Amino acid sequence: MYKESTNVVVKHLVNRLRDVRTAPNEFRLTIEEISRIIASEALSDFKTITTNIETWQGPLDVQVLEVQKLVLVPILRAGEPMLTGILRTLPYARSGFLAMKRDEKTAESKLFYENIPHLEDKTVLLLDPMVATGGSLIDGITYLKSKGAKKIISLNILGAPEGIDAVQKAHPDVDIFIAQVDERLDDKKYIRPGLGDAGDRAFNTN
Ligand code: PRP
Ligand code: URA
Repeated sequence: MYKESTNVVVKHLVNRLRDVRTAPNEFRLTIEEISRIIASEALSDFKTITTNIETWQGPLDVQVLEVQKLVLVPILRAGEPMLTGILRTLPYARSGFLAMKRDEKTAESKLFYENIPHLEDKTVLLLDPMVATGGSLIDGITYLKSKGAKKIISLNILGAPEGIDAVQKAHPDVDIFIAQVDERLDDKKYIRPGLGDAGDRAFNTN
């Protein structure tokens, strides 16, 4: 299943990303904020456990998220601000890394580096702001499954319908939480209206 956010704050922030006058630092911070909101939406029914805390009136049993069962995996480089944002909310989550680059001529993704912790009995939040053809996400999910991931949730910011469909066909068991689904892909496989190249916008390159 995929769920597009209906939150007006999320839509407001996505439109800040589209504006080319939004400078790299604000662009990254905006990705962080959107990611924190959509992560909350994605984790709204995540398992909680009872833990004992020390309150001002003594010990108390409370419910907390079972954060040790969560692994955050950004697809670098554009996924990095998503990780930074969510780690501010859930600082004890584990992190893994996939560094992938889409070939701009063929739109095929290539994996350059990985560092993934043990995934058995974990839920992976896979973080990539852009779903254009869906190729990077499909390959990232396939790789995480080969490493033993049983439950993967994809968090994304902007997608094209074609890319979302492709991911759902390739991996129907993966839930996608996305801030905004745009109109289409252009002939260079960029999302329209989109925001341009997320990595370039975030890290001031072109
Ligand atoms: C972008 C983006 C996705 C991918 C989406 O990354 O962050 O990973 O393209 O395109 P796709 O759905 O057609 O695969 P890119 O490969 O440009 O690398 P970057 O993050 O280093 O800019
Ligand atoms: N990658 C991006 O960063 N933007 C697009 O529109 C497509 C792929």
